[in-house]
Amino acid sequence: MAVSRALFDEVMVPNYAPSAVIPVRGKGSRVWDQQGNNYIDFAGGIAVNCLGHAHPALVSALKEQGEKIWHVSNIWTNEPALRLAKKLVDATFAEKVFLTNSGAEANEAALKLARRYSIEHFSEDKVEIIAFNQGFHGRTFFTVTAGGQSAYSDGFGPKPGAITHINYNDLAALEAAISDKTCAVLIEPLQGEGGVISAEPDFIKGVRALCDKHNALLIFDEVQTGVGRTGELYAYMGTEVVPDILTTAKALGGGFPIAAMLTTTKIAQSLKVGTHGSTYGGNALACAVAETAFDLVNTTAMLAGVKQKEQVFKAHLATLNEQFNLFADIRGKGLLIGAELTEQYHGKARDILVAAASAGLMILVAGPNVLRFAPALNITDEEIELGFARLTTAIAEVLK
Ligand SMILES: Cc1ncc(COP(=O)(O)O)c(C=O)c1O
Repeated sequence: MAVSRALFDEVMVPNYAPSAVIPVRGKGSRVWDQQGNNYIDFAGGIAVNCLGHAHPALVSALKEQGEKIWHVSNIWTNEPALRLAKKLVDATFAEKVFLTNSGAEANEAALKLARRYSIEHFSEDKVEIIAFNQGFHGRTFFTVTAGGQSAYSDGFGPKPGAITHINYNDLAALEAAISDKTCAVLIEPLQGEGGVISAEPDFIKGVRALCDKHNALLIFDEVQTGVGRTGELYAYMGTEVVPDILTTAKALGGGFPIAAMLTTTKIAQSLKVGTHGSTYGGNALACAVAETAFDLVNTTAMLAGVKQKEQVFKAHLATLNEQFNLFADIRGKGLLIGAELTEQYHGKARDILVAAASAGLMILVAGPNVLRFAPALNITDEEIELGFARLTTAIAEVLK
């Protein structure tokens, strides 16, 4: 069957507007399309492909598990799921793990758990959730409502209730909003989709203190920041704060769909048998790939490499800015980097993304004014060089 981009418009629900080309093959941080054109990948499948494309160890893990057993459901457990959970527990604050398939589902589980825990331990009316403007937590109705962009949650009828939004990095606003009826504060330690904005250290410590004061659970959404992305295994490790619940997805499977919710034994008790579940959660194929990816990312050398490459990326962006004077801010942590356009170029982020694709480079945006970069954690210096040469061409084209 001939497959072309035109087929997308014919057979797919029109909620996406994918690029004109179809990638068919990848190796490391290079991708090839149907016509054989090559691209440098600074997008990483939106912060997913932590080890690039077709990493031999991940391919082997998938093949090996594929020959054994793919799926049994949670009526049985499986070896890769248990090994992955043990690795997550050993490497983090967590004592218990709930495995699922996507970031949204991990956050859905976290919010449901927080509600149940607070009702069980405190009172029926301790159900309020505080989240942040511009935050992003997924597209299920609960998580998209917790996200702070009404453009994503409006138009679907009545929303799940008892969710309040305040400004990120505004501790006074949190102090005013939080109460003994708050069951959880849901926060990204670095807002990804919202514009690549870091939480200030004092703010995040203040959030923890206010949660403690009001017996509210602190949920860190590390779907985008987790698994080495910021140069820490999890971003919370670079703060002085430990959350009560943490969600991780994206890079966890290195490209295979999987996610997890991590928490303590005490809190986990509130999801008793039958209270929550997922057919695919903890699928053996996904877990076999994820445990391999996790071992490869969770090394001192890999995490130090992310911090070093952050400097390389930021230096390249600064050079671009000397040439074109188009960035008002270059920010982010590790290999989650944002470059905010000056007012003169507001609204042009997508044009640059499209021009970059034509020049052979995959990048991301975070809203209309921010270019976002989330490449593989093991991207090579040579791939970075080539990518920036292409970005220079693309920007020159857009600005001419
Ligand atoms: C911080 C954060 N949370 C949740 C999600 C949703 O993850 P998924 O698309 O896997 O449901 C995303 C996706 O971009 C995200 O960046």
